[in-house]
Amino acid sequence: MVNSAAPVTAEPLAPAAVFDWLDQAADLRAAAGLTRTLRSRPAEDPVLDLAGNDYLGLVRHPAVTRAAADAALRWGGGATGSRLVTGTTALHTELERELADFCGAEAALVFSSGYAANLAALTALTDPDTLIVSDAYNHASLIDGCRLSRSQVHRAPHDDPAAVAEVLAARTQPRALVVSDSVFSVDGNAARVGELSAAARAHGAALLIDDAHGLGVLGPGGSGAVAAAGLAGAPDTVATVTLSKSLGSQGGAVVGPRRVIRHLTETARTFIFDTGLAPAAAGAALAALRLLRAEPERAERAREVARLLSAQLTAAGLRASTPDAAVVSVRAPGPEAAVAWAADCRTAGLAVGCFRPPSVPDGISRLRLTARGDLTDAQIAHAVDVIRRTAPLG
Ligand SMILES: Cc1ncc(COP(=O)(O)O)c(C=O)c1O
Repeated sequence: MVNSAAPVTAEPLAPAAVFDWLDQAADLRAAAGLTRTLRSRPAEDPVLDLAGNDYLGLVRHPAVTRAAADAALRWGGGATGSRLVTGTTALHTELERELADFCGAEAALVFSSGYAANLAALTALTDPDTLIVSDAYNHASLIDGCRLSRSQVHRAPHDDPAAVAEVLAARTQPRALVVSDSVFSVDGNAARVGELSAAARAHGAALLIDDAHGLGVLGPGGSGAVAAAGLAGAPDTVATVTLSKSLGSQGGAVVGPRRVIRHLTETARTFIFDTGLAPAAAGAALAALRLLRAEPERAERAREVARLLSAQLTAAGLRASTPDAAVVSVRAPGPEAAVAWAADCRTAGLAVGCFRPPSVPDGISRLRLTARGDLTDAQIAHAVDVIRRTAPLG
């Protein structure tokens, strides 16, 4: 970090030494047990996957993969340009219409990722006259959106609608936006969306819910946490979603009132200056959405798998979270133990997520399990057995 108070002598440095500081940073991460590495996944992986976010098991559903292939054959490998230039195909338009309809909202706007959708909502719906009240455990993309906004940001205590109301009541800014994940991605607990809405409404604020982990799992037929809270179509409520979890594809969307969507279309930088979502991804998401609408029991099964996983892990003596949606976490004694535990699970044929600081806001390292709705009871029992057998002491 450069200290702007102290003059810096810009001595010449050998080009090969310019990035030396990165090696020191990597050493520090290694010493803290925070090294991260990439592993390429084989197409035919024999490992049982509880690490991805394919909550409904749709990513390889024949209707989804066929729709992706058909879209690529028909429209090409990429969108060719930004949405406002050449990057909007009929598939994007249909997907937006059907997503909005499914969520009970007036309109939707598709982005190239959920991350981009969150940056768009937070930057376009705020200004220097807006106070953002953001849950302390919100996803990194919401935090980055807050940072990019030119608003004052208040980091509210986790899951505390009363604290949110207090901050809103004391604000000096004319506008306010309350922002929260619907389901917190690490522990899988749900926000009290109805109470957040009541707090926002009592103080003239808008509500933004990141429903990345709620769409396809919560609400009637999986229509999401906003619908579950009775807020579908509410004029003061906006949701962001990802197409990359329950919908087995890639991309994101903002769903909400028509005038919000129009404003984002005309002003959101991550919409305007980004190439449109690839047609194959739009086609796959649309096919998955249609499957979910035809078979709404998929959402209930994902929730049931989560309950079964949690109950069986707890019965095995492990500290599993009580799931509100389709994420179950299991506490590990520390970051190194969590990494070793996840590796031992993999060796035993089970892929699980491993979350540790700085990805966990409370400093607790965990395994994270995706309660896929397509898991059989035998697969659930097998997963629990592997996790129990490989559990670290402590
Ligand atoms: C809560 C939450 N919001 C947003 C995102 C970002 O979505 P995407 O992966 O589509 O960029 C994720 C995904 O990782 C997430 O977990």
